[in-house]
Amino acid sequence: MARISQETIERVRNAADILDVVSRYVVLKRRGRNYFGLCPFHHEKTPSFSVAPEKEIYHCFGCGAGGNVFNFIMEYEKLSFVEAVKNLGDRYGIPVELSRDKGAQELFSQLYELHLDAANFYHKQLLSDKGGKTLAYLRERGLQETTIKQFKIGLAEDRWDALYKETKKAGYTPEVFDKSGLFSRSDRGMFDRFRGRIMFPIFNTAGKIIAFGGRALDPGDPAKYLNSPETPLYHKSDIFYGLHATREAIRKAGYAILVEGYMDFLQLYQAGIRNLIAASGTALTERHVSQIRKFAERVVLVYDGDQAGVNAAIRAGYLLYKGGIEPRILPLPEGLDPDDWIREKGAESFRAALDETLPVLKFHLTVRKAAAMTGAERSRYIRDILSQIAGIPDGIVRDDLVRELSQELRIDELELVKQLQRERRGGRLPAEADTAKTAPADRFTSQVQKAQLELVKVLAGPDREARQLVRDMVNLDLFTERLLKRLSELLMPLYDEIDYAAIIDHFETKEDRETVARILMEESPVLDPVTTVRECVTVLSANPLKEKIRKARIKIREMEAAGKDPTEIIFEVAQLQQELKNLGS
Ligand code: UTP
Ligand code: MN
Repeated sequence: MARISQETIERVRNAADILDVVSRYVVLKRRGRNYFGLCPFHHEKTPSFSVAPEKEIYHCFGCGAGGNVFNFIMEYEKLSFVEAVKNLGDRYGIPVELSRDKGAQELFSQLYELHLDAANFYHKQLLSDKGGKTLAYLRERGLQETTIKQFKIGLAEDRWDALYKETKKAGYTPEVFDKSGLFSRSDRGMFDRFRGRIMFPIFNTAGKIIAFGGRALDPGDPAKYLNSPETPLYHKSDIFYGLHATREAIRKAGYAILVEGYMDFLQLYQAGIRNLIAASGTALTERHVSQIRKFAERVVLVYDGDQAGVNAAIRAGYLLYKGGIEPRILPLPEGLDPDDWIREKGAESFRAALDETLPVLKFHLTVRKAAAMTGAERSRYIRDILSQIAGIPDGIVRDDLVRELSQELRIDELELVKQLQRERRGGRLPAEADTAKTAPADRFTSQVQKAQLELVKVLAGPDREARQLVRDMVNLDLFTERLLKRLSELLMPLYDEIDYAAIIDHFETKEDRETVARILMEESPVLDPVTTVRECVTVLSANPLKEKIRKARIKIREMEAAGKDPTEIIFEVAQLQQELKNLGS
């Protein structure tokens, strides 16, 4: 991994003047303290692209693009971060060298090496005499030798410290062993995490092994699958099993087939169906969805045919809708997973089924037999779906889904639209913009989100006394929004000048950087900081109480419906309300 020392990055950032850099690509005109021009990242006739020379950042009020000088070069020239630093270093005469000896870098490369050693060891065990029975089992399940080799499948024997003994010789530091997630420490020494398991190495997109999934050999084992824990190399919400081998095929096909299991993946891959991914050791997350956006616009979910699989698929489906990806489902018969399908009915029938997938909403309505619902059940169900739809940022997608819902269930579309608007105003909604292309100005819409945003703005503002006030009055634990919390954490220790451009470098995704640039760009002098800060703190402290009250009320209704006595909870609610009142004073 190419890395540049922090010191060099800072030198280049300080040397490169954003106005100078951007002016080479965009004609800028001064308006007040900032400069404006036509945005190079989207089509426009009136300038909404702005540069703040004092803060060394840019932001487009039209499309939401934004960041510091590195991000501008990255986006404009389509370069990686490291390449952008190099590019600007060259331009400003600062030599940019890869850092040689950084502790962290050493840790990473040792961790990679240890994982490779482990994978080789497990793989060798499987192919040795000791692995005979396991290999026979895999063959019987239809895995061919080429697949086993390509994905380096292995065997962890049922022994306490086979891997530890094997790798100890190589001279890894104790820190590397501890952080690898491959071992546990006890008073009697180190022992292997994976024992008595078929080992599936998990690769990153560059094809390096960063973790393992292990399937128990003993059918009585309480954990059928055991995965590596989160480690410096492995963040399970960022990783798809097998993607290193299938990215090209996905791009070619225009969509990705998403399956649940390692065996499902391997069986389909082996059958020549290659536009595939599998989440490893976790349900699909929002982070997964933003990963998918980088290589596919559509996803076909192929989950187990049992109840758990159906529920997981529906959940994943709405997550994909919200992430701007078109989700479809290939329903499987009860009791079959994709692995079974290929073995029992063959790849051709699977391919044929791929032509008959359903949109997730349609599938949801069908499996829940929505058309046959009546009365309260029906309206609760519709409300649930509308609350999912309300969370979709793209207005066109929302409209299409509402229309589909109205047709399928024969409900007046206008009535649904009205309900949807109520849902969207409800305030429990995540980030959203009206369409993907408009400015992300309303990523923080609820009262609780706005309070956090307000505090961040005070912290990022010019009023030093107000900044101190936030430090004195606000506990970071009050923040519920990941990005705003991180931003406050970065801003709080800054007592003097704020280096806005440097703050942006702390955020990894483009989406986050753009939001941060927008927040930092907005000038909003706080007129009465004491009142503002106090009000925000009140809102944020009240939020968990309100949530508790809401839940308790539901509980009370349920108990009443079930003929039980809710007195105790009613009492609890009264107490919570008193606490809430005390906050307001
Ligand atoms: P399944 O239980 O459907 O297993 O879990 P499978 O893939 O069909 O495995 P075989 O066919 O019995 O060998 C699907 C996926 O869910 C994750 C694993 O990624 C698994 O492949 N999983 C399952 C876990 O992480 N832990 C578990 O205990 C079970
Ligand atoms: Mn299976």
